[in-house]
Amino acid sequence: MAFDLDMIRTVYAGLGSRIEAARTAVGRPLTLTEKILYAHLFGGKVGEAYQRGVSYVDFTPDRVAMQDATAQMALLQFMQAGKPTVAVPSTVHCDHLIQAKDGATEDLVIANSENKEVYDFLASVSNKYGIGFWKPGAGIIHQVVLENYAFPGGMMIGTDSHTPNAGGLGMIAIGVGGADAVDVMAGMPWELKFPKVIGVKLTGKMSGWTSAKDVILRVAGILTVKGGTGAIVEYFGEGAESLSATGKGTICNMGAEIGATTSVFAYDEKMGDYLRGTGRAEIADLARAQAAHLRADDEVYADPAQFYDQLIEIDLNTLEPYVNGPFTPDAAWPISQFAAAVKEHGWPEKLEVGLIGSCTNSSYEDITRAASIAKQAVDKGLHVAAEFTITPGSELVRYTVARDGLLDTFAEMGGVVLANACGPCIGQWARHTDDPKRRNSIITSFNRNFAKRNDGNPNTHAFVASPEIVTAFAIAGDLTFNPLTDTLPGTNGPVKLDEPRGLEMPPAGYAVEDAGFQAPAADGSGVQVLVDPSSDRLQLLEPFKQWEGTDLVGLRVLIKAQGKCTTDHISMAGPWLKFRGHLDNISNNMLIGATNAFTGETNSVKASGIQGEPYVPVPQAARNLKSMGIGSIVIGDENYGEGSSREHAAMEPRHLGVRAVLVKSFARIHETNLKKQGMLGLTFDNKADYDLIEEDDQIDILGLTTFAPGKPLQVRLRHADGDTDLITVNHTYNEGQIGWFKAGSALNLIKLQESG
Ligand code: F3S
Repeated sequence: MAFDLDMIRTVYAGLGSRIEAARTAVGRPLTLTEKILYAHLFGGKVGEAYQRGVSYVDFTPDRVAMQDATAQMALLQFMQAGKPTVAVPSTVHCDHLIQAKDGATEDLVIANSENKEVYDFLASVSNKYGIGFWKPGAGIIHQVVLENYAFPGGMMIGTDSHTPNAGGLGMIAIGVGGADAVDVMAGMPWELKFPKVIGVKLTGKMSGWTSAKDVILRVAGILTVKGGTGAIVEYFGEGAESLSATGKGTICNMGAEIGATTSVFAYDEKMGDYLRGTGRAEIADLARAQAAHLRADDEVYADPAQFYDQLIEIDLNTLEPYVNGPFTPDAAWPISQFAAAVKEHGWPEKLEVGLIGSCTNSSYEDITRAASIAKQAVDKGLHVAAEFTITPGSELVRYTVARDGLLDTFAEMGGVVLANACGPCIGQWARHTDDPKRRNSIITSFNRNFAKRNDGNPNTHAFVASPEIVTAFAIAGDLTFNPLTDTLPGTNGPVKLDEPRGLEMPPAGYAVEDAGFQAPAADGSGVQVLVDPSSDRLQLLEPFKQWEGTDLVGLRVLIKAQGKCTTDHISMAGPWLKFRGHLDNISNNMLIGATNAFTGETNSVKASGIQGEPYVPVPQAARNLKSMGIGSIVIGDENYGEGSSREHAAMEPRHLGVRAVLVKSFARIHETNLKKQGMLGLTFDNKADYDLIEEDDQIDILGLTTFAPGKPLQVRLRHADGDTDLITVNHTYNEGQIGWFKAGSALNLIKLQESG
């Protein structure tokens, strides 16, 4: 229905020759990661060898997926490019804005009414530009992508950190910010530092209570939350081939918790089975024909230590089930040691809620294994001690497991089925509790368990495990229970739970009545994008003004930020998230977290940078200057803009009249984002010149009429006492990026090219 077979055929047609060219360029056997990346170079030609962990490389991903929270600004920006359709197949998934409260049906009605304007916008903009639209309730982005779009050897980006889930079907799938999605949808190159490659060799075969989730819980314990940074994790070995495709997806999904760029498995027949089971037999056949290209070279598997930057080995025969947490996903406890850890740390032993499902763990296999435990609770007369919820990952899964009676089993044990959406996993959970101040424990089959993640309550201790372990704990209601060894009081005496049993695929096949997909119009040119002009959540963007063709003179210092200034300081998240589709409203959070170097205070700067003025919040000062037609400049310290790739951190200053950001050093992604928005991102040639900037300075940026790659600019500081300083500043703009600056933004330039 939804996948693009022609696109996949094209990718496969060029695979062999590109991999061969890459092998020649690199001069050694290739890992799977390298094969897929070299096959997706922007422009298609393999010319040189890239250094892992060093080289910045331009790629062309095959597809883009966006969830509803991040899609808003991405698509508002895409509209600025003046393109009739997206350059690669793209989809929008309405999963993040649905709050879990009373159950799927009731919660969906409320979400549809509260988020109507956002859904209407996303549906209409998708319809216009050739983007597939998955309605609220259709499912969680990553599960829907796995069921419909992921394919072995493909490359995609998604505006959500668990996009790597598609690695379960052998795809390099990377989580990015909205600005990256815009680049790819507009046909621009997408840049990534060529990742390092970590090899994880899986030997043996799992049995009993151990599941795929335990592989990644163990890996998280080994690598910790930072151990995968800048790397792609490649799983291989006979153990890998024994895992279902959805189990592989679970492992890749949670690779985000170790900071990995993504994770991937080589093609095998389990992937073929899943592709066939989900109506994609043609892709399974095509992939099988390419199998030699969809795995690392034999020499790599024969001597992995030589070819991977790091190598880990896990024996599935002896792998125990794990429970990770609380507060961090890398605190990994084998089940045999968990009860002691609970007691030793004084974590609340009483378990209040068990939650299964989510994008991480709601496959047919997961649900059947968990249901086999739930059934025992009913059959063996066990009292279920904790609350229990089930979040199906998609309507396809929900319909199928409902048809097969599995949801009835959960209902008999008192479980509540939530909407096919993120819900409690993203904190969209109106949790029922009599006392939010009580220290309490919950356990989920989700991926993240940072403080406040699920219910906003810092007193909640959240643990992460497989769905079957979560189900067993929910029955026991006690974190010191070990389902492998302990008994529970049944109506006829002590009862031990049998090992879970599951099925990788539904024996009667997957089924669904309405999957929730809305195909775009064949010709969207006449489609009207729906944005209510009085909305406070959505606002159409105006193109930023072109460069005026002169030096910038008389800029006022909006703020001289001191110390750490991350994208969170520049554009805070939390309550501001609801304005992420409305640039003017969200700009009221601009730089409110940054520390003013002149006063040590946050969100307090001179009203218009002029002596004698009162101090006001930063956004207000920026608006004052803008209304007077005076440009402003932001001064920053080291690694300015580190953190997320949030494009709002670059768009807001641009919107409020900031013309340049001059810092000691930039975080690279933010620097690029500034460039894309037509802003000047500059660095002090002499870092000590930061100290020369005074609160009442007027600042001129000189040399813009001869702005050229590698050529520094001059900055004149005109101090209030009449003195001046002339300093040198550097930049990293290339020819193309100078074009963005002159046009006012990268999207303006595309539009100019499109119309010219
Ligand atoms: Fe949603 Fe949680 Fe996955 S927020 S996309 S279900 S990680």
